[in-house]
Amino acid sequence: VESLNRPLVDALRRSQDQERRSFHMPGHKGVAGPLDEVLGHGISAADLSEMDGWFPYLHAPSGELSEAQALAAQRWGADATFFLVNGSTVGNLAAVLACVGEGDELLMCRGSHRSVYAGISLTGATPLYLLPARHEALDGEFTVSVDDAAALLDEHPQVKAIHLTRPNYYGMCTDIDAFVGLARDRGIPLIVDEAHGAHFGLHADLPRSAVVAGADIVIQSTHKTLGALTQASMLHVRCSGVVNERRLAQQLQTLQSSSPSVLLSASLDIARAAATDDEMARVVGLALQARRDLAGVVGLALHGDDLIGTGGVVEFDPTKLVIDVQGLGRNGFAVADELRSEFGIGIELADGNRIVCSITVGDTEESVTDLVKALSNLSQTASASAIAVPSMVTPTQAVTIRAAEHCSTQTIALTESQDRVCAEYVIPYPPGIPLVAPGEVITANVLTAIADFQAAGSRIVGPSDPTLATIAVIND
Ligand SMILES: Cc1ncc(COP(=O)(O)O)c(C=O)c1O
Repeated sequence: VESLNRPLVDALRRSQDQERRSFHMPGHKGVAGPLDEVLGHGISAADLSEMDGWFPYLHAPSGELSEAQALAAQRWGADATFFLVNGSTVGNLAAVLACVGEGDELLMCRGSHRSVYAGISLTGATPLYLLPARHEALDGEFTVSVDDAAALLDEHPQVKAIHLTRPNYYGMCTDIDAFVGLARDRGIPLIVDEAHGAHFGLHADLPRSAVVAGADIVIQSTHKTLGALTQASMLHVRCSGVVNERRLAQQLQTLQSSSPSVLLSASLDIARAAATDDEMARVVGLALQARRDLAGVVGLALHGDDLIGTGGVVEFDPTKLVIDVQGLGRNGFAVADELRSEFGIGIELADGNRIVCSITVGDTEESVTDLVKALSNLSQTASASAIAVPSMVTPTQAVTIRAAEHCSTQTIALTESQDRVCAEYVIPYPPGIPLVAPGEVITANVLTAIADFQAAGSRIVGPSDPTLATIAVIND
């Protein structure tokens, strides 16, 4: 039976049976205690250390771990899969470090997760940014285009790799085939951050995974949309000769803990085995049911396949319920607050015009019914109006991110900071695209955008002063 095919779980059980007494780490020695009281019976016993010699080691995969990784590679259509215990964060870091070095150019989305920027800083590479185009109908910036990527590559023929984020937080996917074609034409690796698409390719109604489309490295947060424990993620590789797999494995060893959690890696085996075709059909069925039910709620407009063919969107993830709430006469943040405080419902994200709810393996008919009921009740009590989503700004780089992070800095009033070189990130969430990164100039446009995003209710991440009354700049 597919769901029982879990080699790492078997290894875990065997190790538990074999060792009667531990005189090594972890300190809790697998004995039921406070951890079990709070986190669940059996958690200490399952939290093995590779030191005991009975469980395979993440950094030197063998036996059941190799088998579990091979089963994952098979499920997603990769040549090889690495289990990650530090999230897609470490996947992005290792991929960037494996593909580019000091002074190399990397083509990347301006809206990349901060781990990609961290990779740039660690390598000393130079980023070339792909800016998302403005989507007029949705009043925001969402998807990058392959034409822009091709134009940048023409201008910079020395680019060493492309890093693409697909899908975005809203389940929108750019043209992966075109990106694969572009990377192959240029003979450079395509790294895809598929953090929000671990379920891709596991059902015909879901977007294809970039793995199957032919990307060279694909990173997925198995914990985000499938059933793995938080942090547990996977990195899939296509062994085409364009990526140095030995270097990639070496970077993962360097960056991840030398005491990788067995709980996390076993949870990847469990999540993969649980994501059967039937289970994924159930999840997609729930998402489609939610879509049908919500379509009847006055004041809500649900996005889905209507987005395909607009603003560079080629595929759309139906499990992301992107709900425009402007018809309720209120903004996404207000709706998110009310869902939480009045109905005990937490959502994936809110912006000025909409909310996003994610349907996953953790959902049931009851959970979907609760969501639909709450949203139906909301629609009868309109309040605070929609907020326009501010525009992003085009970055002006003065020095590299790495140089800016190593310069001497000072903290000054934001109002005094125009034309100074920033020493930190200023990233409004949503949309999660940096307004300014270390080494970039704080232009008048940046200052206007900061004010606009603050007024729109975005949470600003990155600055040491979260109020942004002050900002760190590099000394002249
Ligand atoms: C696009 C994207 N990439 C990477 C990450 C990092 O993933 P993880 O939390 O698994 O480290 C995130 C997390 O939010 C993300 O949104």
